[in-house]
Amino acid sequence: MSLRQIATLPDPVLRRKARPVTVFDKNLQSLVNDMIETMRDAPGVGLAAPQISLSERLIVVEYADEPPEDPNQAADTEVVKEVKPKLYILANPEIVKSSEETELGVEGCLSIPGIVGEVERHSWVQIKAQNLHGKPTRLKAQGWLARIFQHEIDHLNGVLFPDRATHVWKPQTDEVNAENEV
Ligand code: CO
Repeated sequence: MSLRQIATLPDPVLRRKARPVTVFDKNLQSLVNDMIETMRDAPGVGLAAPQISLSERLIVVEYADEPPEDPNQAADTEVVKEVKPKLYILANPEIVKSSEETELGVEGCLSIPGIVGEVERHSWVQIKAQNLHGKPTRLKAQGWLARIFQHEIDHLNGVLFPDRATHVWKPQTDEVNAENEV
């Protein structure tokens, strides 16, 4: 495995529409391993292949989703639940269905250091994709995970978060964390 360099604006690779993945072989596996290592090192919760200068429709996402509230839990007790991050590797991902309802959230991007922006995204999305072996797969995501997928799939179409942001700004230190770097 090796760390790859993250492309940043104004690198034109970030504005290109990426090609579909058609070959599911060992090279793809090793590319994915590099993407995972690069995402974790950044650190970030998502990375799209164009961000390492490869114009292919491939994304990795690693995020620990919040557990649902436990209705039986007494209001005055605080239980710390440990949630393990889940790793998603998707080739040729496509949003097939999305909620009418949207939410605002603050996003950053590893390819656009130094700014964040408030972006309106669908509250949930259904995604169709292929796994590392080319097998079709579907998944549904909501909340922050849905936002990460929407951000990464945008990367495959040359779309960057400032294109969608209501406004962008230079963040205060407490507004930057690994969770909004995608
Ligand atoms: Co990004």
